[in-house]
Amino acid sequence: MTVIETNRLYLRPLSEEDATQHYVNWLNDPEVNRYLETRHNAQTIASCKAFIDQCNEDEKAHLYGIFMKDGERHIGNTKLGFINTEYARGELSLFIGDKAYWGKGLAGEVVQALSQYGFNHLGLERIEAGCYAENLASLRVFLKTGYTVEGFRRGHVVSAGSRLGCFVLGILKSELIQYEL
Ligand SMILES: CC(C)(COP(=O)(O)OP(=O)(O)OC[C@H]1O[C@@H](n2cnc3c(N)ncnc32)[C@H](O)[C@@H]1OP(=O)(O)O)[C@@H](O)C(=O)NCCC(=O)NCCS
Repeated sequence: MTVIETNRLYLRPLSEEDATQHYVNWLNDPEVNRYLETRHNAQTIASCKAFIDQCNEDEKAHLYGIFMKDGERHIGNTKLGFINTEYARGELSLFIGDKAYWGKGLAGEVVQALSQYGFNHLGLERIEAGCYAENLASLRVFLKTGYTVEGFRRGHVVSAGSRLGCFVLGILKSELIQYEL
């Protein structure tokens, strides 16, 4: 795995030392985790270390920390996982855990760069993603980088006591949009 650079960020592999209290706090913050599956279990430094180790041992996963170039602050994570080499496809997910960095176009930068890396360096031809129906910021991030809504799973999850649908998104190699931020 390599380091991926964008205008304002670099994405680099994580090691156990990156499982800080700062990282654990994001995952336990209801505003951050409301659309993340991690909310079903209280997160600890040990659980984050175990997750990092598990991803690093998994040949089908590429987990990266999202770091600001300016100050090297760790602000979230992103993953290209479930890599299927037979069909040259994978699944992209991300979160910006540090809320001070929301709304600045950083998630778009991450999705654009990691998708490009998947297509150009991992040989993927298709990348899939998903988001809860209410998570319009996430939907917008995928749409503006060239992903298409390919489906909608009705009543797929339960959030705050209500059943919610989820968007199914996908992108083919030729569709990635390079945009100025
Ligand atoms: C959702 C998340 C990834 C967005 O990250 P971000 O860096 O703030 O996103 P960006 O700034 O790149 O883009 C957000 C876009 O959504 C738009 N947006 C934000 N809130 C919105 C809303 N309620 N309705 C519609 N659009 C919205 C913004 O205007 C922006 O679009 P623009 O670039 O056309 O102006 C981030 O808030 C996050 O990680 N949240 C917590 C975990 C999570 O939900 N992860 C995604 C799981 S699928």
